[in-house]
Amino acid sequence: MFTSDRLLFRGFQDEDVEHLYAMRNDFRIARFVNLEPNIPHPTKYKEFLRTQAEGSTIWFSIIEKNTGNFVGQCSIKVSEPKNRDGTFGISTYPKFWGKGYGTEASKFVIGYAFEALGIQRVSLTVLEGNAAAMAVYKKLGFKHEGTKRRANWAEGHWEDLLYMGILEEEWATAHKKTQGLS
Ligand SMILES: CC(C)(COP(=O)(O)OP(=O)(O)OC[C@H]1O[C@@H](n2cnc3c(N)ncnc32)[C@H](O)[C@@H]1OP(=O)(O)O)[C@@H](O)C(=O)NCCC(=O)NCCS
Repeated sequence: MFTSDRLLFRGFQDEDVEHLYAMRNDFRIARFVNLEPNIPHPTKYKEFLRTQAEGSTIWFSIIEKNTGNFVGQCSIKVSEPKNRDGTFGISTYPKFWGKGYGTEASKFVIGYAFEALGIQRVSLTVLEGNAAAMAVYKKLGFKHEGTKRRANWAEGHWEDLLYMGILEEEWATAHKKTQGLS
């Protein structure tokens, strides 16, 4: 079991799929984690979520240390090992937003991925209206690398999709004290 100050990180367990399904059916979350229409998903969607979790290179369920509550998930997927490029994803239940958990979890998991997987960069995409995610990624040192214009139609308007990334040396410089790198 891995830990940060207030969180535990454990592997996927069968019952976690119920949380993943509940989160994907929550408009506040689904709105920002895919470009699909926001519609309630049928129960068979759980199989897709399970496959997605199990197909990640690193997949952590995030648990609140004090209560044992399921907070959310975060993952890294290395699709093409030769490029040593990990794609990052995170989502947490809205009741836990604004407590610093998103930053704490992202920092732990990305730092762990750089060390454990030997990757040379972490990549992600974020919709332009996702101010909370953007704030987390900027705090951690991610750079804006490109923009796909009009990538998503949501809430009656077009929005851009931003590509962000951080290189291993940028991460090491920004986080060397807390990640134990020198
Ligand atoms: C992204 C997410 C994980 C962040 O989790 P969180 O626990 O709320 O994150 P934190 O509390 O660590 O940080 C949130 C930051 O966003 C800022 N923020 C929140 N809403 C904001 C807004 N509307 N405008 C500007 N900043 C905002 C907060 O002030 C905070 O920054 P600060 O610590 O500098 O004050 C969470 O919002 C989530 O799961 N969202 C839905 C799924 C999602 O968007 N995933 C990412 C897809 S790219």
